[in-house]
Amino acid sequence: MTDLYSDPIGTAVAAAAKIAELTGKEKHDVALVMGSGWMPATDALGKATHEFAVTDIPGFPAPTVVGHGGLIRSYEIAGANGTINALVFLGRTHLYEGKGLEPVVHGVRTAVKAGCKVVVLTNACGGINREYKVGQPVLIRDHISMTATSPLIGADFVDLTDLYSKRIRELVKHEDDSLSEGVYVHWRGPAYETPAEINMLRIMGADLVGMSTVPEAIAAHALGAEVLGISLVTNAAAGVTGEKLSHTEVMEAGKAAAGRMGELLAKVLKQL
Ligand code: HPA
Repeated sequence: MTDLYSDPIGTAVAAAAKIAELTGKEKHDVALVMGSGWMPATDALGKATHEFAVTDIPGFPAPTVVGHGGLIRSYEIAGANGTINALVFLGRTHLYEGKGLEPVVHGVRTAVKAGCKVVVLTNACGGINREYKVGQPVLIRDHISMTATSPLIGADFVDLTDLYSKRIRELVKHEDDSLSEGVYVHWRGPAYETPAEINMLRIMGADLVGMSTVPEAIAAHALGAEVLGISLVTNAAAGVTGEKLSHTEVMEAGKAAAGRMGELLAKVLKQL
């Protein structure tokens, strides 16, 4: 047995082999990680050919957060250049769960080892930029990590200049030219930020804040995948409107925007 903490890449290879066995598909092309509130958006992808619990695959811990499903699905999507095998993760592990970064990035590492050349990371976030409205999707242009940690260990000096692929962002904006781009901050959580912290983050150049995506983007990019990040603004960040923040509000904003998000994802996948 490989162990996620002592051999994260070997465990991702074992997990990819298990997915190939369960789906009968030698490789997948694109991975999607669905964040809080994004699950209903998968309806637009059609019917999955396979579905299994993450706990059936080596290295995945059982999910602990309500609204973070813990399922993996395989889809066949008719694309512009033939059928695309998409691997969809319903739910993810977060840094605030205290299990370290290995489980946080295990899904994307597994996806890349399963053949995925593109990884689409979705999330729910707070809007720091005052121009953003609740329910608005924003493409991640760049990020600021406020967690002082990395999924990479050792002398792995990876360049992050084009971490959120400009090529794919242009493709997506071609499908929907109303989309904005913004800088996403990774906040450890699980407590939301204070209004003073949101002010600091705005001064630093941030537009969006959330508790995911950044470690996965780094891990996927380090293994050679292209990354697209899409944030759904589920609430104004702390202090922006004076309203208090709640997980229920975050989930409901996700549900309300699901139709539009699903259509967007389906269109994007067809172009990849
Ligand atoms: N802050 C951090 N994470 C979040 C938020 C927020 O306001 N909304 C949804 N996820």
